[in-house]
Amino acid sequence: MQPSFWHEKWDAQQIGFHLSAVNPLLVKYWPQLELDTNAQVFVPLCGKSLDMCFLAEQGHHILGCELNELAVQQFYRENSLPFEVSRTAEHQRFHTEQVSIYQGDIFSLDASEMLNTTAFYDRAALIAWPEEMRLAYANQLANLIPDNSVGLLITLDYPQAELNGPPFAVSDDWIQANLAANFKIERLACEDVLADNPRFVKKQVSWLTESVYKLTRKG
Ligand SMILES: C[S@@+](CC[C@H](N)C(=O)[O-])C[C@H]1O[C@@H](n2cnc3c(N)ncnc32)[C@H](O)[C@@H]1O
Repeated sequence: MQPSFWHEKWDAQQIGFHLSAVNPLLVKYWPQLELDTNAQVFVPLCGKSLDMCFLAEQGHHILGCELNELAVQQFYRENSLPFEVSRTAEHQRFHTEQVSIYQGDIFSLDASEMLNTTAFYDRAALIAWPEEMRLAYANQLANLIPDNSVGLLITLDYPQAELNGPPFAVSDDWIQANLAANFKIERLACEDVLADNPRFVKKQVSWLTESVYKLTRKG
């Protein structure tokens, strides 16, 4: 998945992944992480997700990473948040009181930027990568977040041969086989969501499940 793929999607505003409301799974399962109100939460591949607003409303400090500058600009403007921009070595850092977003490639982000992070939230980030890049992303996530950080991961699974990603299908077997070295894994939910996803129904995908995991970075 080349950066140009995502830049073209944002330029054309073909952003079907973006939800116009806070993700109900975040609202339902976030309390299970039992975080301090003022915890710093890393949101990889954040887009302009309203989930960051929900997390900020809980009192958390948000540290996002997003490749596309328009996405970041839209996040602050559409939520009427005044922002400042500064430069780090590899990224532009957009900042308002509770939400900072590093605009640039997650692979050039340095773990020293998030020494105070204790939590993370991955919705449509792991599943944005094709299989050949997915493990590299998962390893970079593990590399960035401090030990004992806890997070929610939301995945989709379906017969990959029946539809091209993104979003890509990620099975529970893949999660267990590839994340267990760095994370303690607890599956909190697995729901049939086919009827809620018209694109999958239209393409006659035979089944679609959405899973929610609690991950804890091993020390
Ligand atoms: C499927 S979207 C999900 C966005 C957001 N998590 C949401 O739920 O709406 C994936 C996002 O990752 C961004 N992205 C892709 N590759 C990236 C990279 N290497 N570093 C940072 N962000 C990236 C894309 O621009 C896109 O906004």
